[in-house]
Order: sequence, then structure tokens, then C-alpha cells
Amino acid sequence: MADPAPVLILLGGAGDLSMRMLLPSLLHLEADGLLPEGLRIIAVGRAEGDAKSYRRDVAARLKEKDELAEAWKALSARLDYAAVDAATPDGAKALKERIGEASLTVFYYALSPSLFAPVTQALSDVGLIGETTRLVLEKPIGRDLETSRQINAVIADAANERQVFRIDHYLGKETVQNLIALRFANALFEPLWNNLAIDHVQITVAETQEVGERWRYYDDYGAIRDMLQNHMLQLLCLVAMEPPSDLEPDAVRNEKVKVLRSLRRFTAEAAREDSVRGQYTAGTVEGQPAESYEAEVGRPSGTETFVALIAWIDNWRWKGVPFYLRTGKRLPARRTEIVIQFKAVPHSIFGPFGDRDIQANRLVIELQPHEDISLTIMNKRPGLNGEHMRLQPLPLSLSLAKALGEEGGRRRIAYERLLLDVIRGDPTLFVRRDEVEEAWRFVDGVADAWAEAGVEPKPYAAGSPGPAGVSGLIERSKRQWHD
Ligand code: BG6
Repeated sequence: MADPAPVLILLGGAGDLSMRMLLPSLLHLEADGLLPEGLRIIAVGRAEGDAKSYRRDVAARLKEKDELAEAWKALSARLDYAAVDAATPDGAKALKERIGEASLTVFYYALSPSLFAPVTQALSDVGLIGETTRLVLEKPIGRDLETSRQINAVIADAANERQVFRIDHYLGKETVQNLIALRFANALFEPLWNNLAIDHVQITVAETQEVGERWRYYDDYGAIRDMLQNHMLQLLCLVAMEPPSDLEPDAVRNEKVKVLRSLRRFTAEAAREDSVRGQYTAGTVEGQPAESYEAEVGRPSGTETFVALIAWIDNWRWKGVPFYLRTGKRLPARRTEIVIQFKAVPHSIFGPFGDRDIQANRLVIELQPHEDISLTIMNKRPGLNGEHMRLQPLPLSLSLAKALGEEGGRRRIAYERLLLDVIRGDPTLFVRRDEVEEAWRFVDGVADAWAEAGVEPKPYAAGSPGPAGVSGLIERSKRQWHD
């Protein structure tokens, strides 16, 4: 008899994440021949349905291009649907029967975090979590340190840490991994990567989209828990960590956790001075009228859809270097980037014009909408500039698309890489339990400080660059946002 095949179980298989990200990723992996032979995919949901109706729904959502028609045929043959409530004993039992024999069972929790513990408990009680099981948990794990610990404890009772894959899809983005290559495969940057040469760091995740249909989840979390606790702190860790000894999963994660432990705790004074919360009101985004957040939610809300704050890393390398973080929904343009702002030259030899022209070097790592890395370098302006040499900054630019052309390949969905890593069992790009908990410790500190200082979200019109006070946050130190 042939060996049993691996099975991927999408818990929340009819939900937004599965439809928008996971199934398109699986389709591309199928097209590239990267899915393991015989892999079965069972989508699980509470709604009525069967394999046939599910495949129809997925096909309608995927709207696949002609060149993916063959891949869709192959993928849909793998797809099954189980209409069960996996958080109940009966549901878990029914699921167990449906799964049958499997060489590897991957449970992907595309669910609300409030279901992580009950589902794990139910799966574990019916004996569905064994040596060859892997659990994939979407962020956010919990809503704060306390709830994330509760979830992690239930998970730890059911499975070993090596079986748990906590996803932060930012770690699957090509440019995020490129940041590791940039820092550690080039001798150029490391001697400058510290408080002697770097003035400050900016991390921006600006989105044009609204919260929309996700408001039920979002209204309880807000920007700080939805984006900052995970994606933004992960980017900060990769910028700030010490060189790991190798790329082994724990070598990298040990360094990231040290950064999180060095984050200075927020105080009420920091909440007032060093952070800004905002919530969008009606406005215009990309030429289209946009509703307010409260209109989407249908009632008054105190949840922030924008946050900007100054984080400090209290260690030798980063002493005195502020990390400016900002993220928001309904901003004028979609842009995700990390800016490493170097210090100015200590003395200008170029006279009054040069003094005015000269700008400190800046390394910009753009993740979205383009994948680009560029370093601004001061140059002489061409031509006869009169008595004084005139200067201008020009970018040394590495556009992945341009530099690699065809070889750079199609831009992959971050989940493609991560799904493959789970199936292969490589946890390097996944977040370890202690990392999640340290990140919550920082975020809880900010939330507590906001509560203590009475910092409420300030309104900003959809399509504007954020609430009043965002520019001041950085300009008071004679610095500027990179916009
Ligand atoms: C998700 C957040 O984790 O990331 C969303 O829950 C956000 O609110 C999304 O829109 C952003 O991801 P990306 O890859 O589009 O930057």
C-alpha cells in the first residue's frame, strides 16, 4: 500500500484570509510544481457545504488567469470541505474521520485568536495532534500578554514548540529577507550599523485601504495590536538585531528576542510626548470618497486606526538612536519602508552653498509598493556652478525588478514561502513563543501608558497623512518623516 499523503487543514477555510491569501498562494505553488505529491487540502468551516460547492466558491474568488487554468484543475482536485465546528468534541471527531491516515498533518489556524485555545483543546482531545502534526497560528496571538500566554500554554500542552509555526507574513516578504542579506552579506554596512553613524530609523507601514468588513475583529485590537505588535516590531528586530552566528532558526530568533527585551518600556509621559493615536474620519482616498471608521463600525469607537511612536532600544549599539514607527489605514498612499538615516558629515568643506545643499546619507528599504533598496549619496551637481561647488543627493538604487529582470521572477505572495516552509518543517521565518510574549509586553506597556495618560485617538481625514502631532513627533528633534 502507498504511504499516506500529507494533509493541510485550513481552519477557517471559507474566511477572508484563506480566500485572499492562502488559496491564491497554494494555486501559485501548484503552478510552480512545488506542492508535495499527493497533498490533500481540507478546508474547514461552520457553514454548510461540500467539496463541490467549496471549489465553486474558491473558483469564483480566485478569478484565475488563463495561464493558471491547469494549476487550478490540479489544485481543485486536492480540495475538500468539511462543514464542522472544530472547537467542539463532535466537530473534532468528525474532522478526524475525514482526515484519516496522513504522513503529515498541518493545521492552519486562519481563525480569530479567541478560537485558538478551544480548537487546539478539541483537536488534542480526539488525538489529532501527534508527532507528525504542525500547527500554524496567524497573528495576533492573543490580545495582550495575558491572553497570548493562555493560548501559548494550551498550545504547549498539546504540541512541542518545534511543531508550532507562528506566522507573521511580513517575514515571508522578499525584501524583508533581503534585509538580512543586505546587513550580513555585505561588509560595507556593519561597521556603520550603530549609534556612531546612524542618526535615527523610521519604519512606516502606510495603507490606503479601510478596515471595512474586518471591523468586528479590528475594533477590539486597533493599529497597535494589529500591525505594531507583530509586523512592525519584527521589522525593527531585523534592523536592530546583532549578527546571528548562522541562519539556524534559533540563532536568528535568539537575536530578535534580545532586541525586544531591550525595548524601553513606555511611561505615561512617553505616551503623551512620544506617541500619537489617530482614527480616520470621512475624506477622499485616491480620488474616491471614503467613509469614516465609525461609519464602518456603525457606532462610536475609541479604537485607533493610526499610531506613531518613538521606540528606544536600550543597548550599546542603539543608545540614543530613536526608532520612529508609524502605521495607519486610509492614508494617502500605500507605502511600506524602512529608512536608515545616517548622521551628517561632522564638518563641511563646501562653504555656505555646500552647507545648505549637503544632506546626510540615507538608506531606504522599500517593501511596498515596489521592492527597492536605495542609498542616497551626495554628488557634485554637473556643470560650472560658479565659485562654489554645488552638491546634490542622488540615489544608488537597487530595484530588484530592474536588476534581476526575468530572473527576479514573479513577485510572490509572502504566504507562498511560509506555507512551503511549514510543509518542509523550517521554522526560521516564524515567531517563537518568547518573541510573541516580549512583543506583547512592550505593546501592553504602550496601551497601559495611553490609558494612564488619557491619550485618545485624534481624528484625521481619510486620505490625509495622519492626525495633528505626527509631524511634530519627529520635527521637534529637527528631523523629518521620509514622505
Ligand atoms: C495584516 C493586518 O496582518 O496585514 C491588516 O491584519 C493589514 O490589517 C495587513 O492590512 C497588511 O499586509 P500587507 O502585506 O498588505 O502590507
